[in-house]
Amino acid sequence: MLKLTNVSKSFGGLKAISDLTFEVRPNQFFGIIGANGAGKTTLLNLITGYTPPSEGRIEFEGMPIHGLPPYRVAHCGIGRTFQITQPFAEMSVLDNVMTGALFSRNGARRSLRQARAMCDEPLRLVGLADQAHQLAGVLTLGARKKLELARVLVTEPRLLLLDEVMGGLTPHEIDDLVETLRRVHAAGTTIVMIEHVLHAIMNLSDHVFVLNFGRELYRGTPDDVVNHPEVIAAYLGKPLTEQ
Ligand SMILES: Nc1ncnc2c1ncn2[C@@H]1O[C@H](COP(=O)(O)OP(=O)(O)OP(=O)(O)O)[C@@H](O)[C@H]1O
Ligand SMILES: [Mg+2]
Repeated sequence: MLKLTNVSKSFGGLKAISDLTFEVRPNQFFGIIGANGAGKTTLLNLITGYTPPSEGRIEFEGMPIHGLPPYRVAHCGIGRTFQITQPFAEMSVLDNVMTGALFSRNGARRSLRQARAMCDEPLRLVGLADQAHQLAGVLTLGARKKLELARVLVTEPRLLLLDEVMGGLTPHEIDDLVETLRRVHAAGTTIVMIEHVLHAIMNLSDHVFVLNFGRELYRGTPDDVVNHPEVIAAYLGKPLTEQ
């Protein structure tokens, strides 16, 4: 579904992404882990057109997408969340989600009424239905993360890319979100999830890719990854069972 071939990205002298090649298959739940600064967000920015690759090819459903602007990538059916959320602070939670519904997949234009009708389900799924009429600017960090997820779910992406969407949530909220993402995935959405909340990524992913200084360190099933000595040395610090 998504294929990267020899993708690299340099910022001046810094090689943030080095020669990455991997594929995400339809219906996969693909986890990406790596230390701060490993290049995870840069990787999402490359896929979604926020920054062009210095080298390499990126294909979605067989079509090259590298070089396309972000809105064109979104219209292909790729949705993403941002690690640093930037909701429209002066607008309500509902209106923020409606912005996603108005300009979503295939660039289809919708009426306000149609867009409004699409918002209930994502707001309910993420647990923000009760706060739909609050101003986005007063939300807690955790609620902003939920809004970020609702805003992208309303675009009905076929491929959903999540950048640390669990940051700032309480343990209880994380458990809820794990179940929500399980349902979104079961409903047919392919998911790529960057996350530092390890138990969430290990519970949800069928495949985990480990980035280290912009390079592939290891990939495999969650069990393989957490037991791999290099992953333990570079990222986990100590085996997961002892944490
Ligand atoms: N626009 C940019 N210009 C210059 N350097 C950048 C830019 N974006 C990212 N970098 C650098 O690229 C490297 C990878 O950053 P990136 O944000 O992708 O890491 P990350 O894995 O998402 O980290 P975190 O877990 O902290 O979110 C870092 O050294 C960062 O400083
Ligand atoms: Mg990041």
